[in-house]
Amino acid sequence: MPLTFAFDVYGTLIDTAGITQSLERLVGDQAGLFSSRWREKQLEYSFRRGLMQDYVDFSICTREALEYTALQLNLPLAEDDKAALLDAYRHLPVFQDTADALNRLTQADHRLFAFSNGLPDDLESLLATAGIRDQFIDIVSVHEIKTFKPNPAVYQHFLQRSGATADLCWLISSNPFDLLGGQSVGLHTAWIQRSQANLFDPWGRAPDLTLDSLAELPESVNRYSCTT
Ligand code: LAC
Repeated sequence: MPLTFAFDVYGTLIDTAGITQSLERLVGDQAGLFSSRWREKQLEYSFRRGLMQDYVDFSICTREALEYTALQLNLPLAEDDKAALLDAYRHLPVFQDTADALNRLTQADHRLFAFSNGLPDDLESLLATAGIRDQFIDIVSVHEIKTFKPNPAVYQHFLQRSGATADLCWLISSNPFDLLGGQSVGLHTAWIQRSQANLFDPWGRAPDLTLDSLAELPESVNRYSCTT
């Protein structure tokens, strides 16, 4: 039975910590801390914008979070350096387990979509640079309804756009807040726990699958479908 897969992009297929290399040149050994604070603030801004019903492009959340992080860590950056970092954010590296897992799922006739807070153009360029754009039937961006994950409306929008029903649809994400959002409309969920240091929010709802990497996804979903 063909299943529909909604793949989160940032942090799941594409490594947001890949910006650390570009940061090292500018902030030296603070690069790791800078990168994680930047990412946390970017997501916080998207949550807050969503709550305030004050939608802006995700790239603006990224830029404003960059400004904030530089101020907070007292690491001033020149305008050219900020522009170079934001440009690098559009060409982040792909996780090395991504291409093979996507390939095995498409070979098995499943329907794959990228599903993200990112702007459609940014997602096209990220996935094309990573060499995985062709694995996806389409890219579904929250920009189409101008709010952010984890508003349940964006998961409902995904179902509508992909023509899938929730019982045959999997959300694949490394971001627990994203999976809890998907659960709110009944999607199956697989958490890619890329590091043991990452924790799932104790909200009383576990994901259907917890995997160390995307490499295990095709077989684990298959096994899950046979036993439920
Ligand atoms: C995304 C963010 C949440 O790609 O990682 O939607």
